[in-house]
Amino acid sequence: MRVVSVIVAAGKGERFGSKKQFEKINGKMVLDYSVEILSEFGEVVIVASKEDLEFVKSFYPQATVVEGGKERMHSVYNGLKSIKDCDIVLIHDAARPLIYREMVSAVIDAAGEFSAAIPVIGAFETLKRKRDGFVVQTIDRSSIVISQTPQGFEFKKLLKALNECILKGEIYTDESAVWEKYYGEVKTVEGSRKNIKITTKEDLELVRCLLG
Ligand code: CTP
Ligand code: MG
Repeated sequence: MRVVSVIVAAGKGERFGSKKQFEKINGKMVLDYSVEILSEFGEVVIVASKEDLEFVKSFYPQATVVEGGKERMHSVYNGLKSIKDCDIVLIHDAARPLIYREMVSAVIDAAGEFSAAIPVIGAFETLKRKRDGFVVQTIDRSSIVISQTPQGFEFKKLLKALNECILKGEIYTDESAVWEKYYGEVKTVEGSRKNIKITTKEDLELVRCLLG
């Protein structure tokens, strides 16, 4: 089974304050951690913004580097278009440096069997709906899960669905949402609470502790 990974690293990091994917942890860039692990499973495509293309290319000569787009979904689409052929494509956020081999393997195996698979964790805290500074409702969390990356899909089907989304101007926050809309169910595999997506400075501190 041929696997290609698309690592999206073309975001601006507005909530973080800078491009978090290039922050250094233990002398390595946040992006390095994902490139290292995912390279073990096959080719890697890195999606970077126009101004970072040359620097990223020089840093990862073994990877294919392509330009990102306005929304995350456009960046993913550009990454997919650069792939000639493969069976399973993994889509991964550069902002999640704490992935590990077992999780990646589980996603690949489940995607091979069910066409689409994502790592998830339970929503362990009580979820509330807030309006104007007051809690107005408690949400039943028994069937709620939190989605992570890498997400694995049958390559040709994902590309076809994203093609249509782009044509129609539809925007989805992750590829699983696209798959659900176009094809239906997505298999879940066990993610990890350690697989933090760096969004704020606080997240970077947590990741530093975990990697320290
Ligand atoms: N990403 C991307 N292209 C975009 C937007 C996001 O490749 N147009 C990537 C980011 O680099 C990140 C991942 O998608 O690795 C998840 O996005 P997010 O955490 O939202 O990162 P940013 O968009 O950079 O952050 P913010 O939303 O705070 O600006
Ligand atoms: Mg974003």
